[in-house]
Amino acid sequence: MRAVLCGCGAMAKGWLKAIAETPEIRSAVVIAGLVDVNPAAAKALADEFGLANAVIGSDLADVLEKTSAEIVFDVVIPSARHDVVGTALVHGCHVLSEKPMAASIEAGRSLIAQAEAAGKVHAIVQNRRFISGIRRIRRLVESGALGELTAIHCDFFIGAHFGGFREEMDNVLLLDMAIHTFDAARFVADKVPVAVYCHESNPRGSRYAHGAAANAIFEFSDDVTFTYRGSWCAEGANTSWESQWRIIGTKGTLLWDGADEFKAGVIAGSEGFFRPIEAIDVPQAANEAQTHGHASVIADFLAAIRTGAKPETVSSDNINSLAMVFAAIESARTRQRVTL
Ligand SMILES: NC(=O)c1ccc[n+]([C@@H]2O[C@H](COP(=O)([O-])OP(=O)(O)OC[C@H]3O[C@@H](n4cnc5c(N)ncnc54)[C@H](O)[C@@H]3O)[C@@H](O)[C@H]2O)c1
Repeated sequence: MRAVLCGCGAMAKGWLKAIAETPEIRSAVVIAGLVDVNPAAAKALADEFGLANAVIGSDLADVLEKTSAEIVFDVVIPSARHDVVGTALVHGCHVLSEKPMAASIEAGRSLIAQAEAAGKVHAIVQNRRFISGIRRIRRLVESGALGELTAIHCDFFIGAHFGGFREEMDNVLLLDMAIHTFDAARFVADKVPVAVYCHESNPRGSRYAHGAAANAIFEFSDDVTFTYRGSWCAEGANTSWESQWRIIGTKGTLLWDGADEFKAGVIAGSEGFFRPIEAIDVPQAANEAQTHGHASVIADFLAAIRTGAKPETVSSDNINSLAMVFAAIESARTRQRVTL
């Protein structure tokens, strides 16, 4: 299949690296074009990845016509996404977009409708649910070893110095980063988000224009609570990019540091102020192929085009994660509990 990659900035390198390093994807996809409003960025990317035959341009429609592409990989900044995806669909392309899938819920709904009308696959890169740790904790929760799930608590604290679009955007942490953890929590819990109360701030000393920190309490279906505490300007003790997790069930608790460390314990007796606890193992991911971040999402998207099955992060499902973000933003704005 012929693909055009639109948006040749920092993340585009991650995509091209994932494609180059994954034989199954490399053999299925040709990067036929590279598009950026700054064509020099597209040219530099072509040089770096040896894509000498790729058509370079600044106008997506023009490059799609020249390449007869069937796929658009959308790696532009969020504010440009709606136009890029719309153009790709009008040209009969399947689209895999970076997160967040849209800059508003209305824009997200309109893209879902456009993709459905065009009969094309439209999926979103939520690479942080396609990693070993998240697959392992989902499997543990599913197994029932912790009993019935009652709560998920995530902490995300990173002093991050990006520069670029993030420093100017509103609600930067919720919209550009927390969506990963919200999506992963929705996946691990396998529940429906029902309501949220969120306090958002831009802490003293922040390098960002707006919303570099947020504290949210979500109500999920079946009385499951999900809390998120996050900041992009918390210097001195970074957590993992995946957040630090505490998952509580009726029988026990799992701690995950967001990297390699898991600690799970369940009740092993019925006596005592503190009940005796026994350690339990966290199972490996059920499917190793689903643990390679971007490469796994791209492979899932290509398989969906081939087989007609829905990709795991199809836009019509991913909008539920986006809805968590916008409900949190609305709650922070109004200082009220918001239902989803
Ligand atoms: N999944 C992840 O882990 C992850 C990590 C980082 C970034 N991202 C996402 O990737 C996207 C891009 O982020 P980035 O860090 O690469 O940003 P970036 O600013 O480094 O790159 C974006 C590129 O898009 C180009 N662009 C902007 N408008 C365009 C348009 N209308 N048509 C063509 N090109 C256009 C810019 O010129 C720039 O080269 C964002 O949605 C971001 O949230 C995802």
